[in-house]
Amino acid sequence: MKTFFKIVGGVVLVVVALIAIGVIWLMAKKPASQPASAEKVQATPERMARGKYLVEHVAPCLDCHSDHVLKFSTPVKPGTEGQGGYIFDKNIGFPGVVAAQNITSDAEFGLGSWTDGEIMRAVREGIDRKGEALFPMMPYEHFRSMSDDDVKSVVVYLRTLKPIHKGVPDKHIDFPVNLIIKFAPKPVEGAVAAPDPHNSVAYGKYLTTIGGCYECHTPHDDHNALVADKPFAGGWEMKGPWGRNYTANLTPAGSYMSHATREEFIGRFKAYASMDANSAPEAPAGHNTVMPWIAFSGMTDQDLGAIYDYLKTVKPIENKVVTFPDAK
Ligand code: HEC
Ligand code: HEC
Repeated sequence: MKTFFKIVGGVVLVVVALIAIGVIWLMAKKPASQPASAEKVQATPERMARGKYLVEHVAPCLDCHSDHVLKFSTPVKPGTEGQGGYIFDKNIGFPGVVAAQNITSDAEFGLGSWTDGEIMRAVREGIDRKGEALFPMMPYEHFRSMSDDDVKSVVVYLRTLKPIHKGVPDKHIDFPVNLIIKFAPKPVEGAVAAPDPHNSVAYGKYLTTIGGCYECHTPHDDHNALVADKPFAGGWEMKGPWGRNYTANLTPAGSYMSHATREEFIGRFKAYASMDANSAPEAPAGHNTVMPWIAFSGMTDQDLGAIYDYLKTVKPIENKVVTFPDAK
């Protein structure tokens, strides 16, 4: 019997030691990364215009990285563009504190002293300046499909954001999530091109990836991981200063997509094109939304049409969603 307990005790000790070694190894481990490119991005007028379009209307950078006005569709508060924004913390069930940082050209708190290559690496590969992993709430896993040209345009435009001298709360991520996220970043290998915009379905897929539609409109499990076999089926709960929403089902079986025509779809976005943070109405109780309708309304008809064409090709999934659960 004694020998038996000695053996069991020995095995337990070995297992504990192995786990400890594993944790220490993980703590020391660096995420997969490559040196930032040394390229100095040339600021052409075309890139400036494209970057403005992408940042303001397609890839909702400013939506996360700015303060908001709590009116319809939670628009960016004028004057706070890029100063830092959403804080994910225990109040919303987040394991720690992660804030969308200042991405203005402020040298201390923003990207003023970052190289172009460091910014591009953060956006597409999820690596910060110190070589550490960014939390994937920053959607770099989707931005990795952003074309070389588009990410350069984003950099050119970000450089023009008025510097705002303001920091965000320090990052702290609880164990073991702090170790798990080290596996999220992946270097981008080789050249990345966008699909031909004349190929509406392929280009629509590209836009739904960099536009966050796929991320927000795909359900997430208890660990906040995408349920990859239910793309666009909706039902992800989003709680925040705007209230509470569930994202809509955008598959062809969804209650809206099953009947909306291409024109109606484009028109639904375009209806907000003349609205801004000042003119946006107060939303009735329980009826505000985190869906950036006003920002997206600046997309071209061609791009919105491409998104519609692509969404009509995704697998239809029956999933009834009440998008405004607290509406009277
Ligand atoms: C869904 C919200 C969201 C969107 C959309 C978003 N970000 Fe972020 N971003 C974050 C969060 C949160 C962090 C902080 C991650 C961390 O510290 O681990 C971050 C971090 C960053 C960083 C690193 C900053 C630093 O100081 O380390 C850069 C650069 C950045 N984002 C740029 C962008 C750009 C450019 C876009 C648009 C193309 C964008 N982000 C879109 C949420 C977002
Ligand atoms: C930050 C999360 C978020 C992002 C990003 C987002 N959505 Fe949404 N979307 C929502 C939420 C929440 C709702 C439900 C509330 C509402 O209708 O405003 C919604 C509703 C919708 C609806 C209305 C559907 C219905 O049943 O009435 C459409 C259409 C839509 N989104 C399309 C898109 C497209 C296209 C994109 C990308 C270009 C996108 N969304 C990106 C959160 C998001």
